[in-house]
Parts: sequence; C-alpha cells; structure tokens
Amino acid sequence: MKVAIVRERRAGETRVAASPDVVKKLAGLGFEVAIEAGAGEGAGVPDQAFADAGAQIAADAAQTLNGANVVLKVQRPMTPADGGVDELSMIPSSAILIGLLNPLVETGQFAGYGERHLTVFAMELVPRISRAQSMDALSSQANLAGYKAVLDAGIYYKRVMPMMMTAAGTVAPAKVLILGAGVAGLQAIATARRLGGVVSAFDVRPAVKEQVESLGASFVEVEGAGDAETSGGYAKEMGEDYKRRQAEAIHEALKKNDICITTAQIPGKPSPKLITAQMVADMRPGSVIVDLAVEGGGNCELTEYDQVVQADGVTIVGFANVAARLAADASALYARNLLNFLSPMVDTEQGAIAIDWEDEVIAGACAMRDGELVHPSLTAAQGGE
Ligand code: NAI
Repeated sequence: MKVAIVRERRAGETRVAASPDVVKKLAGLGFEVAIEAGAGEGAGVPDQAFADAGAQIAADAAQTLNGANVVLKVQRPMTPADGGVDELSMIPSSAILIGLLNPLVETGQFAGYGERHLTVFAMELVPRISRAQSMDALSSQANLAGYKAVLDAGIYYKRVMPMMMTAAGTVAPAKVLILGAGVAGLQAIATARRLGGVVSAFDVRPAVKEQVESLGASFVEVEGAGDAETSGGYAKEMGEDYKRRQAEAIHEALKKNDICITTAQIPGKPSPKLITAQMVADMRPGSVIVDLAVEGGGNCELTEYDQVVQADGVTIVGFANVAARLAADASALYARNLLNFLSPMVDTEQGAIAIDWEDEVIAGACAMRDGELVHPSLTAAQGGE
C-alpha cells in the first residue's frame, strides 16, 4: 500500500496533507509514504523531518504519485485547465483520493476523476456525528480561522482590545461583534475575550445562545428564529420577514461595535449578505470587519476576495483561506483528520485497503466510488442540470 502526498500548488495554499507525526502512524498501518520534495515548506516542515518520520522524499509530483493507492490532498488536484503541473493525470487509475475538494461548488472536477475510475472522499462531506469528530476537517480548520480572524482584526484596528488603565489615562475595551457562532465564531468569541474585548454574538440558530453565553459573550436576540437549524446542525436559509428583523438588529449592533467578525455560511449556498454598504457607513470610523465567509461570496457587501479594503473609514478584511495562514497547526490538525478517516479503511493484518461501505462515515464522505458519482447531494445536483 502506498500513500502519496504532493506539494499543494493552488494559489495561496500553504498547508500540506501530512505531518511527521502522521507519517509515522501511516507507516505503522503498513503504508509506504511518499512525499514530494518541498511539500511541507509552506507549513514550516522540512523534507528531512518527513524523511526522519519514515517518508520517502520524491523529486516531483509524478514520482510521488507513481503507484499510489491513496492520494492525500489539501485542495483538489491540479488539472490541465488550471495550468502548470497536471496532477490529476498522474494519479494512478482506481486510486483513492481524499481531500478538501469543495465538492458542492466545484462540481466540474468529477468528470476527470470518473475517467480515472477514482474513489473520491471529500472531507467536507464527513457526517457531523460524534464518532466522526476526530475526522472533522471543517471544524479543525474553522477553529483556527476563528482565532486568526481576531488577530487580523487586532492588526487593522488602530486601538487596543483590552481595557487599559494607565497613568496617562484609561483606554476603553474594544467592542467585538461576532456574526455566526458556529465553530469559527465560537473560537473568535473565546479569542476576543482572551484579548480583553467586550464580545457579543448573533446566530440564526437560537440553540447556540447558551454556548455563546458560556464563553462570556452576550447573545443578540432576533425574534422568530425557531427552526433555523437542520437535523445536521447547520443553518437553513431564512424567510424574508426574519431577514428584515435580523438586518435591523445587526444594523443597530454594528453602530455600537468596533470590530465585527463574520462567519455565517450555509453549506453549498452563497453566504448570507448580513452587512450592507449602508451599515458599514453607519459604523464608527476606525472600525474593522473581518469577513471569514469570503469563499462563499462574503457576509458583507463590500468585502473583496483576498483583499483588505477601506470604506467610509472602516477597514474590511477579506482574506481567503484563513486557516492556511496558520499553516503549521492547520496542516498538523488536518493530517490528523485524514489519518483518523483513513485508518478504519485499512486491514492491517492483510496489509490492504478494505473499505466497509456500510460505515456511515465512510459512505457519507464518499463523493465517487470507482469513478461513479454516489453522494446524494452530488447526484441530485447532476440530475437537476
Ligand atoms: P458553518 O460554517 O456552516 O456556519 C457558521 C455559522 O453561521 C453557523 O453557526 C450558522 O448557524 C451561522 N449562520 C448561517 N446563516 C446565518 C445568518 N443568516 N445569520 C447568522 N448566522 C448564520 O457552520 P459550522 O461552524 O461548520 O457548524 C455549525 C454547527 O454544526 C456547529 O455549531 C455544531 O452545532 C454543528 N457541528 C457538529 C459537529 C459534530 O457533531 N461532529 C462538528 C461541527 C459542527
């Protein structure tokens, strides 16, 4: 059994789908591990650290992928359409591909996998059940993004976050509003609190009120959010009446806050536009918005993808792929997620891959099996086209 990890080539991607610790564990499961030279550079992991953990360092993507049964990726493999190295053509036919593939949005990728009869697991599709928590890459990455968003806000905010009582006078603490209190939002609350901010948060799912309050933040209430949660724990798209009331509450809250971190997302759909240009204009000059929903189009009307922009004296930070800006920890946690996902697929006695298709986590995360699209959310989308 050979597992291959190539260098990530997509723009801005600094993470790597392995860590030395995970390489050791993969070797323990009976895998031969090949890592492309320089794969860990962006995450601060030298080739030697991977080699010391038991990996073979391969000169290029072709050599790394040659003969691989399992390919671990952060983002989707490069194709001729992306320009540069055509990673996809180097993945052996019938191999297993596992990565953060953005399957609900990048639906065009599956044709190429189909031609190569790949079995494809998208880490975004791992069911969010207790048993799969250690495999939940969305959570491991969102948690880091939530933390980093507060630090980014601190950099662009021209004041301090904590209250400071000095001989020269007292500085008031920053008021921080978090929109969307999921994994990233809760970590943002905790981080802003640690830095001494006065924090409040809003989410369409009233169920999170208790979690928000237990972190020492106050919850911004909007009436009528009764059934905003799906059985999977995600937010639903809300009706017009509710959206209007929500917009008023957010507008009022923004006028009183200095920093706003937005994290509101709806899987597979554009991010809800929670902050209009008018709301930005009504914020205090010097305020900062960090929009973590930028990959889904952003929560603020004025956010620009991977840019920091100014509007009416407000700084709007729209960095993409924020977890990749903490590449060392993001890679280490993601590699753990991959290991925990892959381990149950290995028959260590036989030294072979043995997939239990009855396992709801494995089946739930499977986008494509032997080149055929199998995930209901993808086959439904295809049928609708
Ligand atoms: P997400 O990244 O899809 O969304 C972030 C947050 O934005 C969510 O809390 C969502 O309710 C909120 N949101 C969406 N639309 C909004 C709007 N219009 N206004 C304000 N807020 C809005 O979600 P995330 O963070 O990945 O997870 C959401 C929830 O899933 C978690 O809080 C948890 O309940 C559940 N979960 C369960 C896990 C498990 O059991 N293994 C693991 C991780 C999450």
